[in-house]
Amino acid sequence: MNATIFYYTGTGNSLWVARRVADELGGAELFSISECDDEKKTVSSEIIGLVFPVHIWGVPAPVVRFAHRLRESRPDYVFAIAVNAGQVSNTLVQLKKIMAENRLNLSAGFEVAMPSNYIPWGGPGTQEKQHKCFELAEEKISRIAVRIKEKANMPVEKGPLWQRILFTGFYNMSFSHVPKMDKKFWVDDKCNACGICYKVCPVGNITMREGKPVWNHRCEQCFACLQWCPQEAIQYGKKTPEYERYHHPEVLLKDMLKSR
Ligand SMILES: Cc1cc2nc3c(=O)[nH]c(=O)nc-3n(C[C@H](O)[C@H](O)[C@H](O)COP(=O)(O)O)c2cc1C
Repeated sequence: MNATIFYYTGTGNSLWVARRVADELGGAELFSISECDDEKKTVSSEIIGLVFPVHIWGVPAPVVRFAHRLRESRPDYVFAIAVNAGQVSNTLVQLKKIMAENRLNLSAGFEVAMPSNYIPWGGPGTQEKQHKCFELAEEKISRIAVRIKEKANMPVEKGPLWQRILFTGFYNMSFSHVPKMDKKFWVDDKCNACGICYKVCPVGNITMREGKPVWNHRCEQCFACLQWCPQEAIQYGKKTPEYERYHHPEVLLKDMLKSR
């Protein structure tokens, strides 16, 4: 199948989903949205997919920017997968509207639940819970691939009405504040100046000063810096020293660095 999948990811869940979809389709080219952020990327594939995490009940800013630029490509069929931790809310409706503004049709939008990487609210859950999540995700991805192969035109998946009303409000209120939310990051004594946080940041928000990371208020809140820190030295607010770190077990640091 002539398909191209663009993914955005903080901790590998969306990359893993993108890879699994590509396998099910019998192959697809995979590109990181972070890599394409500055360039005008046009693609000639008949099928284009966007796979990305839900952030604050909506579409993360790098994906919003990318979706606006897709109009140059004029694909035949566009699908999206919003990878989330149980609350997809209005994300895919929002993306469909962005596409429509650019005279593109989002033909299908699916949600896939994966372990949470939003560490301020706690860790990803027990290993058992995570594995159950991966199993269910595998099953869902197989069903999604069938619909993509058919080039199905279908309503996008969405959360319950109360969630969409309430949380779309939160998304809209917080959207412009996200870049400065990095004020809560700090680094503890375990930091050994390895610089992985700086390398893994998808938007180049981190610089190293006197061997320590400094966040420069262009943050996208993906939590890659904190979650991939091998020393677990990066903290956010007061509670994260107690919480378990997470990244998808089949996604390695080198996969992340390649896509930055
Ligand atoms: C800043 C932030 C906000 C998030 N907001 C939501 C949300 O609104 N709903 C939800 O279900 N999951 C939310 N999550 C969880 C992620 O969407 C989920 O863990 C996803 O699988 C992470 O994918 P990634 O590893 O590709 O980054 C949020 C995560 C982060 C870091």
